[in-house]
Amino acid sequence: MTTLKTKVLGIDFENPFILASAPPTAKIASIDKAFSLGWGGAVLKTITPDNLEMIEASERYAAWKFGNKVCGFENIELLSHLTVQEWLDGIRLLRQKHPTKVQIASIMAPVVKEEWQKLVKIFNDSEIDAFELNFSCPHGMPEKGIGMAIGTHPELSAMITAWVVEVAQKPVFVKLSPNVTNIVEIAQAVEKAGANGISAINTVQSLMGVDLDTFEPLPKVNGKTTFGGYSGISVKPIGLRCVAQIRQNSDLPILGIGGISNWKDAAEYMTVGADVVQVCTEVMVNGYGIISAMKKGFLDYLIDKGFNSPADLKNRAIKNISEHRTLDKQKQVYPQIDDALCVKCGKCVMVCSESEHSALSIVDGKVFVDKDSCVGCSLCSHVCVQSAIKMK
Ligand SMILES: Cc1cc2nc3c(=O)[nH]c(=O)nc-3n(C[C@H](O)[C@H](O)[C@H](O)COP(=O)(O)O)c2cc1C
Repeated sequence: MTTLKTKVLGIDFENPFILASAPPTAKIASIDKAFSLGWGGAVLKTITPDNLEMIEASERYAAWKFGNKVCGFENIELLSHLTVQEWLDGIRLLRQKHPTKVQIASIMAPVVKEEWQKLVKIFNDSEIDAFELNFSCPHGMPEKGIGMAIGTHPELSAMITAWVVEVAQKPVFVKLSPNVTNIVEIAQAVEKAGANGISAINTVQSLMGVDLDTFEPLPKVNGKTTFGGYSGISVKPIGLRCVAQIRQNSDLPILGIGGISNWKDAAEYMTVGADVVQVCTEVMVNGYGIISAMKKGFLDYLIDKGFNSPADLKNRAIKNISEHRTLDKQKQVYPQIDDALCVKCGKCVMVCSESEHSALSIVDGKVFVDKDSCVGCSLCSHVCVQSAIKMK
């Protein structure tokens, strides 16, 4: 019998889809609703010591849209505004109402051993299932020497991980930043320091755009902005790459994050090493309800492939990712044109000639491929507005 259930570090997930630490997990009532709708768990909006100043800017979001679709999303939001006590009460309430749902406490504190350990000890006594250390917020907190200021330094990341692991009575995931030259170096440093798992990725540092009338950068905060964190479907290739690189170098469980908007994205993350995935932006722009289609589509896929559970999918693609020198250079593919779909607009001919190869032409009303000139790069197939070109 195929199941969506999976187990990570002894924690039972009823399905591998959980909410990432962000606005959808900022209020107890919202998490309650998400759990009722079928999410397997939630990473709570990052909790900090009560005395850490948290003043938000407005506007705090900007979006890159294609038509009506939000493809990329930038935020300059800070962390949770609930007090530690409010979280403790909320976690208890959620546990009573939803005993099978996974709750992970995301935490962040100044670089002071006592501060980190105090927060961990408080939540040790709560009913959370695990900790996630936020070493990766790219805005606001780095000014205070925390967030991404930690996660871009292997030694600092290792030191704080060790402080936490020393007192934590629950598994510890470290949430990594993609804004580094080598994410594997940071992953290995925290693994060596005792982390039980990795969460990747947090947002990609970004500048969304500039208003060309007023020269105000976006998002506008009374005419100014700061570099923010980019998320949503356009960051998926970056998240996938990071998770795959970590998996190639570590056996730790990974919570995959970044641009996941449907079950296929989630499944891809699992094939490159994720045990469970987290979703943020897609929920912010389309609501908690997306979970129904995610669960159904993923279960149908597992059944179709003859897999028993998400664990059967894990790492399936990882052996197929290697260095360029190892790729098979003997085989070449060529564009195959579906004449029934092709409208002879000439776009493929134009891009091929202007991008070096001039292998395509229109002969007798049909697109002709000169195999001697074609290098099989696949550009024509990507620009075809009719999807009439497949590489074979
Ligand atoms: C508005 C907003 C607020 C966020 N706040 C947090 C946070 O408090 N803690 C954290 O670890 N990550 C935070 N994130 C990052 C997300 O958890 C996630 O790592 C990132 O958005 C990539 O996933 P996505 O493409 O599914 O959105 C935030 C993201 C957004 C968009």
